[in-house]
Amino acid sequence: MLGTDLVTALLEADHEVTGLGRADLDITDAAAVAAAVAGHDVVVNCAAWTAVDDAETHEDAAFAVNATGAGLLADACAASGARLVHLSTDYVVGGEPAGTPVSSEAALSPVGAYGRTKAAGERAVRASGADALVVRTAWLYGGHGPCFPRTMARLARERDLLRVVDDQVGQPTWTVDVAGLVLRLLAAKAPAGTYHATSSGWTSWYELALEVVRAIGRDTDMVDPISSEEFARPAPRPSWSVLSHDSLKAIGVAPIGPWRLRWAEAADDVLAEA
Ligand SMILES: NC(=O)c1ccc[n+]([C@@H]2O[C@H](COP(=O)([O-])OP(=O)(O)OC[C@H]3O[C@@H](n4cnc5c(N)ncnc54)[C@H](OP(=O)(O)O)[C@@H]3O)[C@@H](O)[C@H]2O)c1
Repeated sequence: MLGTDLVTALLEADHEVTGLGRADLDITDAAAVAAAVAGHDVVVNCAAWTAVDDAETHEDAAFAVNATGAGLLADACAASGARLVHLSTDYVVGGEPAGTPVSSEAALSPVGAYGRTKAAGERAVRASGADALVVRTAWLYGGHGPCFPRTMARLARERDLLRVVDDQVGQPTWTVDVAGLVLRLLAAKAPAGTYHATSSGWTSWYELALEVVRAIGRDTDMVDPISSEEFARPAPRPSWSVLSHDSLKAIGVAPIGPWRLRWAEAADDVLAEA
């Protein structure tokens, strides 16, 4: 989902790009990774095991991609001198108390198997010695993959009632905006470190569902708020997924902007074929 929009953004900015999907490169294959990285100035790793619930029962397989694969890419970048942009997630810092946006300097406190494998990926990237930007995002939506708004739009057309969790809070973020921020970080020659690529402000899944239902012209009365307990899932979810943009502000790079304004801009594109 993110990789597609990132390649588009790089091409629009007149960069030469090699866009590799899973069929082109398995990031757990060290020799293939080294060969793919060779000759490139920058590598952006959007590849991941992103099935959060399945990771609970397949943690080794998730670890292979999210930790081992990330480490192999970082080692190859360190060896070749390429800059690495490694995508990570709010699930690596899910233990923070609610109320304050989580600093990019906060200690890792992963949530669930997915969070553990992504945290191990961050550690592998930092340990590699590569010139790396760890870019954490959250609550991603986009036009090129399954995501919450597209699922809600489909369900709203199929059903009379949607019950949506109202006690998990986060920052809905458009893949196009993450791509734009990655480009700004590269253009600014941002120092190696951790940056948060999320919209600002925060909302709940329930409130986001209301926005989606409104965007497709349905009555918001069809959406009922429920608690996480009422919607049991295999993997735990962070209840407070609100990331601070402190490290962006410190280097003078503009963050993405308020989630509601960005959603208003994105909705037609994201829901086009949903
Ligand atoms: N989606 C979110 O809400 C969210 C939130 C926070 C952070 N993130 C992070 O943002 C990044 C991009 O997420 P996304 O939503 O764009 O993910 P996505 O749509 O699931 O894309 C991940 C891609 O990685 C590929 N992949 C899996 N294993 C691979 C391997 N061994 N070698 C090469 N490619 C492999 C997948 O291929 P297959 O489809 O064939 O498996 C898929 O094309 C990830 O680092 C993710 O952890 C996402």
